[in-house]
Amino acid sequence: MEKVLQKTTKVDNKNRPKKVFIKTFGCQMNVNDSERIKGILKNLGYQFTSDWKEADLILLNTCTVREKPDRKVLAHLGEYKKVKEINPTAKIGVCGCLAQRMGEELDKRAGGIIDIMFSSYNIHHLPQLLEKANRGEKAIEILEEPPKDEWEMFEYPTIRENPYWAFITIMKGCDKDCTYCIVPQTRGRERSRPIRSIINEIKELVKEGVKEIHLLGQNVTAWGKDFEEPIPFSYLLYKIAEIDGVERIRFTTGYPSDLTDDVIKAMGEIPQIADALHLPFQSGSNRILKRMHRYYTKEEYLEKIYKLREVKPNIALSADVIVGFPGETEEDFLETLDVIEKAKFEQLFSFKYSPRPGTPAAEYPDQVPDDVKTERMHRLLELQKKIMNQLAKRYEGKIVYPLFERYSEGKLIGRSSENKWVEVKSDRKELLGKIVPVKVNKASVYVLYGEFISQI
Ligand code: 5AD
Ligand code: SF4
Repeated sequence: MEKVLQKTTKVDNKNRPKKVFIKTFGCQMNVNDSERIKGILKNLGYQFTSDWKEADLILLNTCTVREKPDRKVLAHLGEYKKVKEINPTAKIGVCGCLAQRMGEELDKRAGGIIDIMFSSYNIHHLPQLLEKANRGEKAIEILEEPPKDEWEMFEYPTIRENPYWAFITIMKGCDKDCTYCIVPQTRGRERSRPIRSIINEIKELVKEGVKEIHLLGQNVTAWGKDFEEPIPFSYLLYKIAEIDGVERIRFTTGYPSDLTDDVIKAMGEIPQIADALHLPFQSGSNRILKRMHRYYTKEEYLEKIYKLREVKPNIALSADVIVGFPGETEEDFLETLDVIEKAKFEQLFSFKYSPRPGTPAAEYPDQVPDDVKTERMHRLLELQKKIMNQLAKRYEGKIVYPLFERYSEGKLIGRSSENKWVEVKSDRKELLGKIVPVKVNKASVYVLYGEFISQI
C-alpha cells in the first residue's frame, strides 16, 4: 500500500488543501469502503467537507440493490454536476455497486460528467485514478474480476466516524444465487480475508481505543469456507474474543443455513458476543423461498431462532424480508406474517420486491402488481409495529450495557448489547468509550431512557 501511495503526488496545486465531499449509499460494507477511501484521501492531503458546493472532489459511493438507490444516485449526480460551474477544475467520482454494474453506461446516463469511476474491487487504485483525472483525462477503471491484491487496501488505516467501535470487513462477495439479488454481479464470488490480516487490524484498532468490533461481509457466516484448508467461522470468533481489549463483537450479515450449531454454540460461550443478530429470512413461504433459491425452509429458520434463544435468551433479532416477490400469493404472504409473529423481531427491514437487471426473478412472468405489494407492506408494517411496541416494554426496569459513543446536550448516548440506543442524562464525559450498566426507566421502540445504578 505504501508503495502505491508513494508513487502519487500530493494534491495541492492551488497551494491550499483540496476538499472532498463523500456521499455513501447502501449497506455497511459500503460505509466501511468509504472509511477506507477517506483514509487514502487523507493521506493524499485532502480535507473533508460536508458542503458539496465547496468541494474539489465529489465522490458518490453507490448502491444498486434495489431500483430506489439507483434513482437516488442519478438524482444526486444531476445536482452535484453544478459544482463544475462553481469550480471548473472540480472532479466528480462514482464508485461502489452501481459503478460496477453500469460502468461507462452510467457516465453516459449522467451526461458525461463523471471523471473518476471504480468499484469496491479497486479502491486502492484511487491515487492513480485521481492523478489521471487531475491531468484532465477520464479515469474509469471497472474490473471484471477482483484483483489478486484486493486485501492490500485493508492494511491501510481507515477514517471512522466513531473512535470506540469499528467495522472490519472479513469477507467479500457472495456465492449464493438468490434469484432476486444483484450483489453477486457487483461484489463477485466469496473471498475470505486471511485470518492474520483480520487479527492484526483488530489488534491495531484496540490499541487506538476501539472496544467494539463489528465484522462485516455479504455473507459473513460463510467466512473461511473458500480457503484451501477451510476454517470454520466459529474459530474466528473464538480467536477474536481472545484479543485483549475486545469488549464486544457483532457480525453482519448471517445466512440462516450457515448459522451452524458450532456458531450458535460459540455465540452462547463467548461473553463478548452481543445480544443481537441480524438474520434475514426474506419470505415465510417455503414455495417462495425455493423460487428465491434460499436454501432453508421456514421451519428451519424458526428452529435456528429457537436454538439461538436457548443459548442467548435475551437476544434481540432483526431481519430483512421481501414483500411481493414474483408469484407471491396471499397464502404465501400470510406465511411471512406468521414468521414475524413467531420470531418477534426487534427490528425488521422490509422491502418491496424490485426487479434487478440480469437477475432470474426479474424475468419471471408472474410479477406482483405494485398496489398489491403496497397493501401487503402496510399490513406487515402494522403487525411489526405492534410487536415492537410489545417488545420495548421488556426493557423497562432492566439493566442494559451501552457502550457510550456520543455526548450531546447533557446526555450520554450509546448502543446496548441488544443494539438499542440508550440515553442517560449526565455530563460524565469520562464514560465515553466505556460499557456501563444502566437501569432503564422508560423504553420507546428505538430508545431506552435510563439512569446509572448507584455504584457507578
Ligand atoms: N428487491 C427487494 N429487496 C431486495 N433485497 C435484495 N435484493 C432485492 C430486490 N431485488 C433486500 C434483501 C436483502 C436486503 C439487503 O435487500 O432483503 O437482505
Ligand atoms: Fe447495495 Fe448490495 Fe452493494 Fe451493499 S453490496 S452497496 S446493499 S448493492
